[in-house]
Amino acid sequence: MKIVFATGNPGKIREAAEILGEGFELVTPASLGIKEDIPETGNTLRANSLQKAEYLYKKTGLPCFADDSGLEVDILGGAPGVETARYAGPERNADANMDKLLSEMARREKEAAMARTNGLSTAKATRQARFRTCVTFINEKGEPHFFEGVMEGHIANARAGKGGFGYDPIFVPDGYAKTNAQLGEAVKNSISHRGKALRAMAEYIKQ
Ligand code: IMP
Repeated sequence: MKIVFATGNPGKIREAAEILGEGFELVTPASLGIKEDIPETGNTLRANSLQKAEYLYKKTGLPCFADDSGLEVDILGGAPGVETARYAGPERNADANMDKLLSEMARREKEAAMARTNGLSTAKATRQARFRTCVTFINEKGEPHFFEGVMEGHIANARAGKGGFGYDPIFVPDGYAKTNAQLGEAVKNSISHRGKALRAMAEYIKQ
């Protein structure tokens, strides 16, 4: 089945190709001559993934899917969430995003420690976080279907590892002592938010 994936990110394309496996011919917007940035102006992951998939379906008439992911950090009240890609600015720079996240968390941890010292709170600071993905699949008739995946974990104090992309060097999934960037693609795909959502989508399409 020929299916358009709304991304230009080589890391995501590799991941999706491995997860979907045989029976799917993944096509990118760029390979169909669609070079412009796909609009992404929603307030939720679901709205953004629907917007991207609909945009491509209207342009190509082919089955399409789009994902939108966010990182939710408990001590930051669920931020950066839908702002994850542009946390440190519109350039979507992974290093700047990680630097901002680590320094915001350090600031909040200091505030929490101060509140405990002053007897204002007994709450322990936590580094718990999760990646969440919403995938929208639009079939050949133009009907949308939604799939979600979550990966629980915590934010490390410093970067480790060279693999993966985005926030992978500072995200340690639950049950592992290494960051996503150290675990390697096969392990990460088997537990990742996007892996779960894409496997659910693949199951649905095969049925
Ligand atoms: P997107 O919506 O999938 O483009 O992702 C939004 C933001 O989350 C971007 O900054 C990505 O780099 C980051 N992100 C999404 N998935 C992952 C992942 O699996 N590992 C690390 N960062 C991710």
